[in-house]
Amino acid sequence: MTHPGNTASRYSRGAIVFHWVIAALIVLNFAAAWISEDLPKEQHQQVMLNHKAIGMLILGLTVLRIVWRLTHRPPPLSETLKTWEVALAKVVHGLFYVLMIAIPFAGWAMSSAFSGGQPVGFFGLFAIPGLPFQADKALAGVFHEVHELGATLMLVLLALHVAAVIKHAVIDRDGTMQRMLPWGRTA
Ligand code: HEM
Ligand code: HEM
Repeated sequence: MTHPGNTASRYSRGAIVFHWVIAALIVLNFAAAWISEDLPKEQHQQVMLNHKAIGMLILGLTVLRIVWRLTHRPPPLSETLKTWEVALAKVVHGLFYVLMIAIPFAGWAMSSAFSGGQPVGFFGLFAIPGLPFQADKALAGVFHEVHELGATLMLVLLALHVAAVIKHAVIDRDGTMQRMLPWGRTA
């Protein structure tokens, strides 16, 4: 049985904006990292400067998003969800938040440990200070591993997340997608 009262309720406008802006920036940053690999040195460096700036933007927006999440209750989950679905959604969503902080933070630490604390440029507008590390290639290597592992885990979670959204739209038809879409009725 479906519960229209629950399925019609949606995330707040702010939560929806944060979700889609950050998701788009994350996809863009994966694309930038992958595309940069085959580019000549100068273009590679330019794309990586943008990768770092976009990553720092994701970090900042995620901090604001978490504050928003803690001050704005999400709509109640549909009562049609099974216990394992609720548990899995909670784990995946929780890990997303951890990774949206840990991946850019590891990138920032990698860049700082590699360069001995050089600042990270923000699209030529201003510089974000580096983290206080001495130049240490081995330590930068450790942060690189964390960065890469985190990014790989995020891809796995994203595949699960999108598969779940498709399942709820096509099989369960329980309005889960509508909860996070920028258009439609507000609760
Ligand atoms: C959510 C944000 C981010 C995502 C999803 C992301 C993802 C990635 C991915 C997939 C790669 C290629 C993996 C590899 O190195 O083999 C990469 C490389 C890299 N990222 Fe990020 N990144 C993010 C944020 C940042 C930030 C904030 C910085 C630094 C301020 C940064 C610095 C780097 C650097 C320097 C590399 C190249 C490492 C190398 O191969 O030498 N990233 N990133
Ligand atoms: C890297 C990209 C993405 C990340 C990091 C991400 C992260 C998240 C997180 C953390 C939540 C839980 C929100 C909360 O309760 O605080 C969420 C919910 C949701 N996401 Fe994503 N998402 C991404 C991409 C997508 C995509 C591509 C789709 C659609 C195909 C999507 C559809 C949804 C929907 C429908 C919900 C609401 C689920 C519910 O009602 O409980 N997301 N997402």
